[in-house]
Amino acid sequence: LIHPVILCGGSGTRLWPRSRRVLPKPFVPLVGEQTLFEATLRRAMDPQMFASPTVVTGAAHLAYVRAQLAPICQGTTIVEPEAKNTAPAIALAAQCMPRPDALMLVCPSDHYIADVAAFHEAVKHAAALAGQGHMVAFGITATAPETGFGYIRKGAALKGGYEVERFVEKPDLETAISFLADGNYSWNGGIFAFRADAFLAELAAYRPAMAEAVRASVAAGDTRDGEFYPAAEPFAAIEGDSIDYAVMENTARAAMVPVSMGWSDIGNWQALRDARDGDAQGNRVRGQAELVDCTGVLVETDGPRVNAIGLEDVAIVVDGDEVLVTTMAGAQKVGKLTGAANQ
Ligand code: GDD
Ligand code: MG
Repeated sequence: LIHPVILCGGSGTRLWPRSRRVLPKPFVPLVGEQTLFEATLRRAMDPQMFASPTVVTGAAHLAYVRAQLAPICQGTTIVEPEAKNTAPAIALAAQCMPRPDALMLVCPSDHYIADVAAFHEAVKHAAALAGQGHMVAFGITATAPETGFGYIRKGAALKGGYEVERFVEKPDLETAISFLADGNYSWNGGIFAFRADAFLAELAAYRPAMAEAVRASVAAGDTRDGEFYPAAEPFAAIEGDSIDYAVMENTARAAMVPVSMGWSDIGNWQALRDARDGDAQGNRVRGQAELVDCTGVLVETDGPRVNAIGLEDVAIVVDGDEVLVTTMAGAQKVGKLTGAANQ
């Protein structure tokens, strides 16, 4: 069985004002009725394939995790003393696995996947490669020179995937453009599969102090109300880093499983519009609205009725005392608004 590890950490400002520090993106129903966190849990629940999930989160998100996890399944929650990015969070989970050679499937809690069957198919290939000691990433067809993603250059074919020739996290724009032109690069989907012991060995090789601090933190941790609290003191000394920089860029054991599953990290309002079903004009409306001669407009309002005429590719978001109006092209820059930056 594969052990799902669900990461609930980062805050994110790009879906402001609907996602805020007090109600972060994984816990808001953004696509369909479920939250992204709930959908992530449900995708990893098939008892033929998956053991019960481990959720790694911080005190700030714990109330949401409790409220949304319990009705869906029984899982293990690890409450990290502070946010140190994904490498330590994953290492905590690896240290807590029931067996050293447990197969882990690391899933971000804030992504959307349209085709769950394709995801499960890819997970089967990834699990087979992970069982052989590979650090497996999921490759998504790159369609734009995004600088917020990792890039994977595939090497020789393996059963169900490829060796990874090169892994480059968050390249600059010029480099991203050259990767796209190269044609052999995929985006890293941010989902990973490996054996717990294999991950911990790679972490010890490339970030020995981090690996040791996590081990000490788990060894001195305690369980309260069924949740596990690693000890704060060793953890505080960790220099935060992501799995992408700490392990994937360095390891010689990386593999990639290509997958086409309608993946989106819902990185901004444009991506959210595209993940939702539209009407005949491509408008997506949630809440009260009247749109006349509008196309590709996203309206999301929790109260006031939105009325708009003659707009194209615009997002209008009403949330409490904040209103956001942006072109889709401007949606990338929402984090620059002072309201989003100072939330
Ligand atoms: N528990 C915990 N603690 N979770 C965390 C922490 C932390 O300190 N930091 C981040 N996370 C969670 C986030 O909530 C998210 O679900 C996931 O880990 C990934 O973190 P992001 O901060 O969203 O990473 P990113 O989007 O910049 O980059 C990653 O994802 C891209 C795809 O969306 C990388 O893996 C890229 O290579 C990849 O392309
Ligand atoms: Mg992300």
